[in-house]
Amino acid sequence: MSDSSRTLLVTSALPYANGPIHIGHLVEYIQTDIWVRFQKLRGHRCHYVCADDAHGTPIMLRAQAEGITPEALIERVGREHRADFADFHIGFDNYHSTHSAENRELAETIFERLREGGHISTRTITQLYDPEKGMFLPDRFIKGECPRCGAADQYGDSCEACGATYSPTELKNPVSAISGATPVEKESLHYFFRLQDFHDMLREWTRAGHLQEEVRNKLGEWFEEGLREWDISRDAPYFGFRIPGTEDKYFYVWLDAPIGYMASFKNLCEREGIDFDEYWKPGSEAELYHFIGKDIIYFHALFWPAMLHGAGFRTPSAIFAHGFLTVDGKKMSKSRGTFIKARTYLDHLNPEYLRYYFAAKLGSGIDDIDLNLEDFVQRVNSDLVGKVVNIASRCAGFINKRCKGRLSDSLPDQELYDTFVRAGEEIARLYEAREFGHAMREIMTLADRANQYIDEQKPWVLAKQEGREAEAQAVYSQGLNLFRVLMTYLAPVLPAMAENVKDFLNIPPMTWVNIGEPLNGHTIAPFRPLMTRVEESAIEAMLAASRESLEATPAPASAPAPEPIAPEIGFEDFARIDLRVARIVRAEQVEGADKLLRLTLDLGGETRNVFAGIKSAYDPEALEGRLTVMVANLAPRKMRFGVSEGMVLAAGPGGSELFILSPDAGAEPGMRVK
Ligand code: 2FM
Ligand code: ZN
Repeated sequence: MSDSSRTLLVTSALPYANGPIHIGHLVEYIQTDIWVRFQKLRGHRCHYVCADDAHGTPIMLRAQAEGITPEALIERVGREHRADFADFHIGFDNYHSTHSAENRELAETIFERLREGGHISTRTITQLYDPEKGMFLPDRFIKGECPRCGAADQYGDSCEACGATYSPTELKNPVSAISGATPVEKESLHYFFRLQDFHDMLREWTRAGHLQEEVRNKLGEWFEEGLREWDISRDAPYFGFRIPGTEDKYFYVWLDAPIGYMASFKNLCEREGIDFDEYWKPGSEAELYHFIGKDIIYFHALFWPAMLHGAGFRTPSAIFAHGFLTVDGKKMSKSRGTFIKARTYLDHLNPEYLRYYFAAKLGSGIDDIDLNLEDFVQRVNSDLVGKVVNIASRCAGFINKRCKGRLSDSLPDQELYDTFVRAGEEIARLYEAREFGHAMREIMTLADRANQYIDEQKPWVLAKQEGREAEAQAVYSQGLNLFRVLMTYLAPVLPAMAENVKDFLNIPPMTWVNIGEPLNGHTIAPFRPLMTRVEESAIEAMLAASRESLEATPAPASAPAPEPIAPEIGFEDFARIDLRVARIVRAEQVEGADKLLRLTLDLGGETRNVFAGIKSAYDPEALEGRLTVMVANLAPRKMRFGVSEGMVLAAGPGGSELFILSPDAGAEPGMRVK
């Protein structure tokens, strides 16, 4: 391997220690873990570290609400996070906490060095203060009326109705979301990191190939707006590290969070005798990669490199941002049951299904990825069970029963085997470039070829013919050898299955390096089932459990109440829904769909195609010509049968009890419903 001497340090963003890991988080941990496992399988030295992000006001308040100390809270949540990650086979080399001795020391060092370099300034600012609770209020803990459009119940930083951004002191009639008290304005001294001092350095760094193109473009906009100093202090009471030389000022959680990457690595170095400075000195040969969500680019692509550079450390080799997860085309929702906790998933489904599904969907860009539950079932069953595992299960029986587990001494089709091995270079290139979806397609194409080979050779026919047993053995041996190569390629995605395959094939741990040699004259162990099909009922049960676990979540006494199943909305929210009278001009059955009808709707000149889940209650002919009400500004949704461009309103529990809404006589298609 030409680049065999690589050394890599890789991180995923640190999850907050006040809530459970959910499937949205898992996109990133699975993405990073696949990449890291791939690097290790290629023979590189690679460390993967992470930690809980343990500081900040929400954690302090959550602990108060539960009547425990923040330390007890982060200890408990940390334990839950570790268990969730382990069960999803996220193979961290170290999982630490930002509330650690290493992190305190590193945060203080970085702060001191930045101060010595003249990059820290102080000034007095005015903020809203909760006189009842005796604390300054973060923007998200203040609600009031938008200073621009007057919308009620808006957060202290931005208005969801009109999109305005403002400072919390501008909100009209503000209230503290913690105590309900009316906040007062109060002054205090704050510490700032002078980001603008790093303008030239960042300009260069952000254009030097460390960022994805979309990210670089976004940063261009931020540069145009101008880099401003960043407020890095918070007043007591706060759960975090006290700023050296002060009595009641703390580092803002976002200052010591990325330093937590270093701290977790330092903790690993101390345990394993690794030279920390080798990795972090300027000009280090080691590569440093941070996987993050696209919402925290500012912190990682501006503040973090500037902090590192200003404090005399190396900067990252690259930041890899990814998009958000939607479920069935929508934001995860507690009431739909699609806000799925890692643990709820694990209670019902095999973690490797999700690892494979995310891999199949992931690319190197920052587009959102969708978990379509129907597609999930179909893809896992058809690719993993139907194609990959199928190769092993159709070949192993004969070898185990008729050949005492012994594979033939040579391959009947060496050329085919070599084709599979050669494909590894392109697959490796795709993994390296984080084009996992593309890599999975290449692997599945190979799996199809392996199955096709077996179909063509018909070893089951040979097996029944007098004197042709050795030929059958050779075909099945070829099949198992091809399977081994495929499983090596899939091992970053399916580590547990790869481990079982290793035992079944009776081979040393798989690596990319040793697949050139086929297993000839080798004895395998008895076959055991490697993966079962995803059952629709397990998905239903998971969604139901997700809905229930929402109802069971206790409300923190003094923090904002959890979202009810149908949360109260303001008039502005209602006004955002464009409800229209529509005429059903055509209603048709949809081939292959159990519940859907395809409706062609006339919106007064405009025609829409909508799939409605009303088949159980209506004959299509009975619908044609009648008026109904539709949501006209629902984002188009891609379904298996086509794109649905809106939604028709119906009431009732379901089944035959579903009732489409209709306006009184006189309403016309296209009229707005108010
Ligand atoms: O956004 C978040 O969930 C943060 N806890 C991520 C921190 S990443 C790093 F900077 F520590
Ligand atoms: Zn507004």
